[in-house]
Amino acid sequence: MIEKLEQIKKEAREASNNSSSLEELELVRERFFSRKSGEFTVLAKGMKDLSDNERKKIGQKMNEVKSEIEAFFDHKKNEFEMKVWEAIAVTEAIDVTQPKLPTPGHGHQHPMTIVHTELEELFTSMGFTVLDGPELESEYYNFDALNIPGTHPARDSQDTFFIKNHPEWVMRTHTSPVQVRAMQKYGAPLRAVVSGRCFRNESTDASHEHTFYQMEGIVIDRHISIAHLIGVMKELLRGVLRKDVEVRLRPGYFPFVEPGFELDMKCLVCGGAGCGACKHSGWIETLPCGLVHPKVIEAGGLDPVEWTGFAFGLGSMRLCMQKYGIEDIRHLHGGNLSFLEQF
Ligand code: PHE
Repeated sequence: MIEKLEQIKKEAREASNNSSSLEELELVRERFFSRKSGEFTVLAKGMKDLSDNERKKIGQKMNEVKSEIEAFFDHKKNEFEMKVWEAIAVTEAIDVTQPKLPTPGHGHQHPMTIVHTELEELFTSMGFTVLDGPELESEYYNFDALNIPGTHPARDSQDTFFIKNHPEWVMRTHTSPVQVRAMQKYGAPLRAVVSGRCFRNESTDASHEHTFYQMEGIVIDRHISIAHLIGVMKELLRGVLRKDVEVRLRPGYFPFVEPGFELDMKCLVCGGAGCGACKHSGWIETLPCGLVHPKVIEAGGLDPVEWTGFAFGLGSMRLCMQKYGIEDIRHLHGGNLSFLEQF
């Protein structure tokens, strides 16, 4: 029986060594240890025919051999499992020696976006709605509806980009067309601001761009006066510049307002004494505005006897330049990161 045990041990070692997968190893284990017909099990069952003395001796040997065979199997099983882990390690490993890749920097808002967002927040806090309008505008809304007929000299100063084969379309020269669109769509009373891009046939220099931003404001209600206009304009400048500013009105001509004004603010650099920034006048030209012309109110589908209003058209790029001390308007569209990263 001892011989038979040695024989089984030898075969079990060979069989486990020759198995080529975990599944095969399981079959080998069955071959020797399965409850009914395992070679080792069958031999162990023969113990009952032995004398007490022999059973004691052989029983001990049998336990030894059993643990040895189990050790072969466990060893082989470990080998297979290690191979699986190695394969995973190769495909999914993190190489801790790899140098750190440069991380892309965080983006931030463009100074014009900051100015427009601040303005929009300020105006919504005063009950205004924020509206949008098309950049490619019809000639009618850009000019005619604003009391600028085809023969009007104001068309010259607002020359713009026209669309080939579509003379009735223009790249809008200002955000004022949204005044009429807003009245038509929402009626009265109305409080709205519109910020967006405008276009003009302009040779560029430090203070002119062919593509620039405006913020338009319009209020339509009963009994609107110049006092309302001045109050809101002062609020606007205080909100953006974070200072109380002194303002003055000069007459200004725009066909779509009557009366029309240029609103100037007292120079923040010299406090009104006169300096380079204000061309030694003490005042900075800031905001064209006025009371909405009855013809424009009519074009908006409202009765100008019942409804009155004011409107303004803020050159928001110029305001942005004053807020941040930017000396050339062209920086704002330049896309130069070393400029933009200052904000
Ligand atoms: N739309 C005018 C411009 O671009 C500005 C303006 C707006 C003037 C509203 C008066 C009222 O020049």
